Amino acid sequence: MADSINEIAKSLQQRVLEGYSEKFKDEFLSPRNIGKMQNPDGHANITGICGDTIEMYLTIEDERISNIKFMTDGCGATIACASYVTRTVKGKSIEEALRIKPEDIDSYFEGLPEESKHCAKLAIGTLKAALNMYENKE
Ligand code: FES
Repeated sequence: MADSINEIAKSLQQRVLEGYSEKFKDEFLSPRNIGKMQNPDGHANITGICGDTIEMYLTIEDERISNIKFMTDGCGATIACASYVTRTVKGKSIEEALRIKPEDIDSYFEGLPEESKHCAKLAIGTLKAALNMYENKE
């Protein structure tokens, strides 16, 4: 019984992920940096046009992002985009992190479907809002 349920779940997952790149599948199925953080230096909770929310927490040391985590109630593309953003900017300077664009995410994932492009914008917008909060505190 458990085996057939697992197989059904696997087959459904494969159908949902049809058309997405291998990089996207990896990021979605094994998202990095999920979690919350106590006393972050920067934090933002942004809701996109679709109603999905991403929350990001980050710590800054010597003007570099030393740690970053995210939570979301969003779709698979939101999870993949936020995961990509967090691991890409971890260890980068604030200036470098502010240069990342939704197009970079789209290109890394070899083209997000049209209906998922706003997920990349939401991930970037949340990062920028968390960095703004840090800069406004300083
Ligand atoms: Fe709206 Fe992914 S569907 S952020």
